[in-house]
Amino acid sequence: MENVFIETYGCQMNFADSEVVAAILTGAGYAIAEGVDEADFVLINTCAIRDNAEQRVRHRVRELRALQGRNRGVRIGVLGCMAERLQCRLMAEEDNVSFVCGPDAYRRLPDLMKEVRSQETGGKELSAVELSATETYADIEPVRLAVGGVSAYISIMRGCQNYCAYCVVPYTRGRERSRDPETVVREARNLFERGYREVTLLGQNVNSYRADAVGFPELMERVAEIDPRLRVRFATSHPKDLSDRLLEVMAAHGNICRCIHLPVQSGSNRMLKLMNRRYTVEWYLDRVEAIRRAMPDCSITTDVIAGFSTETLEDHQATLDLFRKVRYDYAYMFKYSLREGTYAWKHLADDIAEEEKTRRLNEIIALQGQIALENNRKEVGRVYEVLVEGESHRSKERFYGRNSQNKVLVFDRGDARVGTYRRVKVKDCTAATLLGELTQ
Ligand code: 5AD
Ligand code: SF4
Repeated sequence: MENVFIETYGCQMNFADSEVVAAILTGAGYAIAEGVDEADFVLINTCAIRDNAEQRVRHRVRELRALQGRNRGVRIGVLGCMAERLQCRLMAEEDNVSFVCGPDAYRRLPDLMKEVRSQETGGKELSAVELSATETYADIEPVRLAVGGVSAYISIMRGCQNYCAYCVVPYTRGRERSRDPETVVREARNLFERGYREVTLLGQNVNSYRADAVGFPELMERVAEIDPRLRVRFATSHPKDLSDRLLEVMAAHGNICRCIHLPVQSGSNRMLKLMNRRYTVEWYLDRVEAIRRAMPDCSITTDVIAGFSTETLEDHQATLDLFRKVRYDYAYMFKYSLREGTYAWKHLADDIAEEEKTRRLNEIIALQGQIALENNRKEVGRVYEVLVEGESHRSKERFYGRNSQNKVLVFDRGDARVGTYRRVKVKDCTAATLLGELTQ
């Protein structure tokens, strides 16, 4: 029996995909290794969203040469968005990679890996990169790789066809398709019965989920009704598709978490138009208000890009203004990275100097840091129901968990048990974490 080690980079969807890959490979007779040293195959599941994500993977691939020097039989396969984007080019550029396999072709992995072994003499380049209009891996029960056994991802749809001007995802993950709702509910129920207490429903744009007569609000409702002790989260929402109906369903179910990730990308209408986001700042702020009306305690998080094509200082100021208005609980903040094949690559100049992108990004980061700290200071004294997830990284004597709003709370473990709910009173905070103690 050969051992496979799977290493994952990038978004939550990639982590969910790696669990599908683990299921396909264990079904084909491979064992999952705990580390690279026991591995016969190292599979790297990759991200192509920005150039620095790709550079990190290339660095890792080169680092693995040392392992291949010690163990000559080890073969490296690259999976995911970088495999899809670069295809055989990747093997030409990184000659210690034996095969590439894109996100819709994972069922072909066992054949690819057999082929790698049978033609050790080389010659043919091995790749499986067809995109599919229908593949959802709905029938595959993922092998859970994440530690803890409390929280799991469930992929409910794949692909994206929004074609935001800067984004490579529609090209690496193909057309949007929704997974059969019965299989989603069944997977969530199985997880609950195995002791899991939280599921995150994943898709590039979950609000456009549709399978037969079931839309996203109905799917969430069905998952939430499995058991009130099962928390339900979801990501990611496109602001143009966030409906009042979804907010109603959330408000009606205490176990649907009070947290919405609503990527804004820019606070300038001119930029939003150029980005092909198909909403305005006014629309976005209306959605934020609708969220706060339906659920005053709901946290809101976002993604933002600094230095997109032709972004002026005014556009940048508009982003800072929007951040001041919304007061996000958390933000993922990026410098614009030009991606080959996108609309922006074909038609828009990457004309903001690197140092200026960095300066604008740092300004957003500083403002958001301040807002997050101010938001967290208001939490001191409040009591939250926390799902206990595990030991804190810093100390075995402390546990960490999250509240419904997805904020991390760290507290002395006392008699708490992982996988249960406990009430925690907030005593202190940093910009990233709430520090608390167990209470009744
Ligand atoms: N450059 C920088 N950030 C990007 N994102 C997507 N494409 C790019 C790019 N070319 C960001 C967006 C998206 C998040 C997942 O990554 O903010 O929401
Ligand atoms: Fe990329 Fe836009 Fe699709 Fe998100 S919605 S994956 S940013 S194209």
